[in-house]
Amino acid sequence: MYIKEPYFTKVFKPFIFVLALVPVFILAWSFYSKNLGANPLEAMTHQTGDWALRFLLISLLVSPLKRLLGWNQLTRCRRILGLYAFFYASLHFITYLWLDQFFVWEDILHDIVNRPFITVGMLAYLLLIPLAITSAKFMIRLLKKKWIQLHKLAYVLPILGIVHYWWLVKSNIYEPVLYAVILLIIFIARFICTLKKNTIGQTCE
Ligand code: HEM
Repeated sequence: MYIKEPYFTKVFKPFIFVLALVPVFILAWSFYSKNLGANPLEAMTHQTGDWALRFLLISLLVSPLKRLLGWNQLTRCRRILGLYAFFYASLHFITYLWLDQFFVWEDILHDIVNRPFITVGMLAYLLLIPLAITSAKFMIRLLKKKWIQLHKLAYVLPILGIVHYWWLVKSNIYEPVLYAVILLIIFIARFICTLKKNTIGQTCE
């Protein structure tokens, strides 16, 4: 599959950019029109957390999809998808800091130390920051092999995100399990790619 270069750069990429903003617009509109249900804070925390995790997974889907569809241009969307994961995780974190904890640092620290799901969420967010900072093209050139090693964290982050989610749900584990299954499928696809790469010299970037 191939989209002619001007269409890819001027139509497809901006389309992905705008599409990824839809959840935040829906959230903002629901907030403005007081449609976030009985507990708007909970709805905001949950929706931003969900989208952070979804974008972490979507950005990992790029490589297997590229291979499956033979669509090499897709790789060029990975950066923006990863940055959206950071964007939604930041909104999620700010919602927690501001609307949940009112910036009371003592309580926040207490939560990070004493509530394991918050500890894991915090760890995931802290690891996401260097990935976002080094996502620019010149950083790839600057860091070379270190960049590749650092960006392997992209595979660890959704695991942490899923553990964070799994540990916070009390009874209905359906959604974290679903995310875990999707991640497992992505890992299997990645593994198959690596096998092919080793046997017939195909690349799996
Ligand atoms: C990459 C980082 C993170 C990801 C991917 C993530 C993802 C999620 C997900 C998927 C949920 C559940 C949403 C739902 O129930 O529909 C959630 C809930 C939550 N997260 Fe995160 N999170 C991250 C970081 C953080 C951080 C840094 C904090 C705070 C320090 C945090 C605090 C919370 C809280 C308080 C909830 C709601 C818990 C509840 O319902 O009782 N998360 N997060």
